[in-house]
Amino acid sequence: MSTVSSSPTRCNLPPAAARHFGAFAVAGAMALLAIGGTVLHAQGQDKDKYSLTSPGGVAFSDFRGYEDWSVVSSARTDEVLKVIVANPTMIKAFKTGVPGNGHPFPDGSMIAKLQWKPKKSMEAQFAVDVPDVFTQAFVMEKDSKRFPKSGGWGYALFNYDAASDKFTADPKSLADCGNTCHTAVKAKDYIFHPYQKR
Ligand code: HEM
Repeated sequence: MSTVSSSPTRCNLPPAAARHFGAFAVAGAMALLAIGGTVLHAQGQDKDKYSLTSPGGVAFSDFRGYEDWSVVSSARTDEVLKVIVANPTMIKAFKTGVPGNGHPFPDGSMIAKLQWKPKKSMEAQFAVDVPDVFTQAFVMEKDSKRFPKSGGWGYALFNYDAASDKFTADPKSLADCGNTCHTAVKAKDYIFHPYQKR
């Protein structure tokens, strides 16, 4: 008489199948734990970084979700690869012609300059530099009431240390830390990069 029923529960499985079921269950549980661990770690890291506020009073949490914002432009120096991203409010303004149409970016506009140390790609068939280690997030938010002295823009710099996987607010990043230089493009509402054609 065969012992396997239509719904094979563990106790009805032949010994070999029961062993496989056990091993499969353990492997499944470990995978879930690993995934759970990764998610918890990412959530923990996000919680940490978004609890940071710059000496100028700019909260990193104002920029929550910058990781997925649209690209405005990119830039590089010999030491740094940069990608500039902005929030939907600012992207929309760019697309309506701001700042070229003479209108300023609306309050609520946010832009981030993300920086990496570059490395030479070892896989590509041609010489190309690719991001290696993430290092800094330069951020600006438009709020004319909060930041009247710096063209309505609040500035902050958040540094990232890959070894400890931790962000810190740069101690020198006062709310107008970029104003002196960005005044060079006051006519473009203090923003150097245009929304690049694509
Ligand atoms: C901690 C203070 C600062 C913050 C938070 C900051 C933030 C930013 C951001 C978000 C951008 C990209 C948006 C844009 O196109 O304007 C940018 C670009 C730029 N900033 Fe600043 N900035 C700071 C200080 C400075 C200073 C002190 C200088 C001058 C030495 C400077 C010069 C520039 C230049 C030339 C660009 C365009 C080229 C590039 O992409 O690097 N900024 N900055």
